[in-house]
Amino acid sequence: MKNIKDQENLDQKKVLLRLDLNVPIKNGIITDQTRIDKILPVINFLLGKNSQIIVVSHVGRPKGKKNSDLSMKPICENLEKKIGRKIKLISSDILQLKKEDLFKKKGDEIIFFENIRFYEEEERNDTSFAKHLSGLADLFVNDAFSCSHRSHASVSKITKFLPSFAGLQFEAELSALKKVTSEIKKPITCIIGGSKISTKIGIIKNLIPKFNNIIIVGGMANNILSHKGNQIGKSIKEKNCEKIIDEIFETSKQHPCSITFPKDVLVGRNLNDKSKVKELNEIDEDDLILDIGPKTIDSIKNIIQNSETVLWNGPAGYFENSNFANGSYEIAKTIIKKNKNKSIYSVVGGGDTIALINEINAIKEFNFVSTAGGAFLEYLEGKELPGIKALN
Ligand code: 3PG
Repeated sequence: MKNIKDQENLDQKKVLLRLDLNVPIKNGIITDQTRIDKILPVINFLLGKNSQIIVVSHVGRPKGKKNSDLSMKPICENLEKKIGRKIKLISSDILQLKKEDLFKKKGDEIIFFENIRFYEEEERNDTSFAKHLSGLADLFVNDAFSCSHRSHASVSKITKFLPSFAGLQFEAELSALKKVTSEIKKPITCIIGGSKISTKIGIIKNLIPKFNNIIIVGGMANNILSHKGNQIGKSIKEKNCEKIIDEIFETSKQHPCSITFPKDVLVGRNLNDKSKVKELNEIDEDDLILDIGPKTIDSIKNIIQNSETVLWNGPAGYFENSNFANGSYEIAKTIIKKNKNKSIYSVVGGGDTIALINEINAIKEFNFVSTAGGAFLEYLEGKELPGIKALN
């Protein structure tokens, strides 16, 4: 894998730079800027080499349709302030653009394309789309390690058409994860939460042989609770997961890995509600499960106490409402306390988990913080991710 920092002669070269600027945005306000801060080194590096930068990123999952709530605009404005340079956001159809249309004005240094997932060709890894994108630049840099599990046009297919390089953050994340996974101390625990059930539920089975404990919290735990015959009311749930869940529990019997899921929960009637502790048999059909309950917290703390390594990906509840943040905070506090005694090695990953630990100002209290969520888990599975394969 070639890295852009070793590349000579980038002067006036048009660089198509894939970033992961998929940051949480609420009412047009970015609520966590970590992913933007992490790409400042590559932007500054390319500016220092007099390159012309074309940024490609996605926000959210617009599924091939324009959606003004998922525009790159607030991110451009945020980055403009951070680097003190003007950025041009191109909102017109990029399929109509030609290379000579870009960087026409003297002083144009950075161009942003609108959310690349407004184009359905992106997620299809479409060849002509990737070819068209490649025609707008001289070389490609992927500094979006956290998207490398996606076989999408601007991550994978594009590398067929342009000289392609890893970015600075991409390399840093990959080498840190390599180190973590090769020097693991057991017992090792993986805590998986968050709301991206479809991305994560299929991965758990493959993680079982590598971990002593897998703790399932957040949205995914609802699927398990429902599978075990509990009422989950109006809580989020993924369809067609019965077979996967059976396989998770079957596989865990063949390995020294115990699977933990909520014993009790916090519910509300809507996302802005107060919280109410409920036993599993007390959940009503109007309830939304939004956090783990006190008994679950105790058992998770106990597992963390007995672990030498912990990998945590995805919050335990809907922490955006502080009434449902306790489960995640308690997990964070237990890890941090053990980290202070140097009696655990801790790795945290994923946009939401980072936002959560930033809220308690604890980003420095973990051994390694990865911007990657799904990519982090798929890397742990031991697969060669499409974005890494493409660069290799
Ligand atoms: C992430 O947040 O993990 C990346 O931006 C990938 O997003 P996705 O799960 O929507 O592909």
